[in-house]
Amino acid sequence: MTEIIIVKTEEEAGQIYARRTADLIRRNPDTVLGLATGSSPLAAYRALTDLIKKDGIDVSRVRGFALDEYAGLDPDHPQSYRSTINRTVVEPLGLDPARIHVPNGDLDTIKDAGRQYDQSIEDAGGVDLQILGIGTDGHIGFNEPGSSLASGTRIKTLTEQTRIDNARFFNNDIDQVPTHCITQGIGTILKARQLVLLAFGEGKAEAVAESVEGGISSFCPASALQMHPHATVIVDEAAASRLRNRDYYKWAYANKPSWQSI
Ligand code: GLP
Repeated sequence: MTEIIIVKTEEEAGQIYARRTADLIRRNPDTVLGLATGSSPLAAYRALTDLIKKDGIDVSRVRGFALDEYAGLDPDHPQSYRSTINRTVVEPLGLDPARIHVPNGDLDTIKDAGRQYDQSIEDAGGVDLQILGIGTDGHIGFNEPGSSLASGTRIKTLTEQTRIDNARFFNNDIDQVPTHCITQGIGTILKARQLVLLAFGEGKAEAVAESVEGGISSFCPASALQMHPHATVIVDEAAASRLRNRDYYKWAYANKPSWQSI
């Protein structure tokens, strides 16, 4: 099953991600990280940055693949996911920018970009740990409701809800939010060896409950995590508020023996 960890703060969630990721990099300096944009992973990146600095962990060989990118937005635009990943992950962690990949949203080449992106992930040996946020409609990456659970990286049309949610990054003007994107597919995401989904706040409670305790359905893309053998969902009390088995998850985590992996 998916492991559900209910934490008090985003910082606490960030530290769980940071410890896991740092352990992976210590064991394998060529670790491949799956990277996500959005506000949910920010505390996790901060915690990882602190741990890397404190323990002097060598990240010079770490590689990374971002989940998604807007279609037709200049990569130098401050709100492109290329710029966002540089600002929030590559620079603070001190990663080698040449080893960090973001899907290419250039309209001239976008038709083949998805297939090529999936190929480069495979050539790198696959993603070791994929960090994920979740949209209010249950999307992961930019896989909107209805996305095939077997999908590879491809072009998608954004829903109006996602464009409304993301307008805050575009001067609160929905007309400036691109209408299309290129995103890793749900099938691509499921190939990562480990998934960690982070969600905070009441606004995510319904999407979290549907993903974790609802049926597996393309209508709730994050419900695909139920099919992954090593997925962890870390939420605060507000995002956990609609989970029916909340008390069980809390007890299981608080009393988790060292010999239980997940
Ligand atoms: C965007 C991104 C997703 C992210 C989601 C939620 O749609 N494509 O990867 O999970 O926003 O963002 P936030 O974490 O800011 O709520």
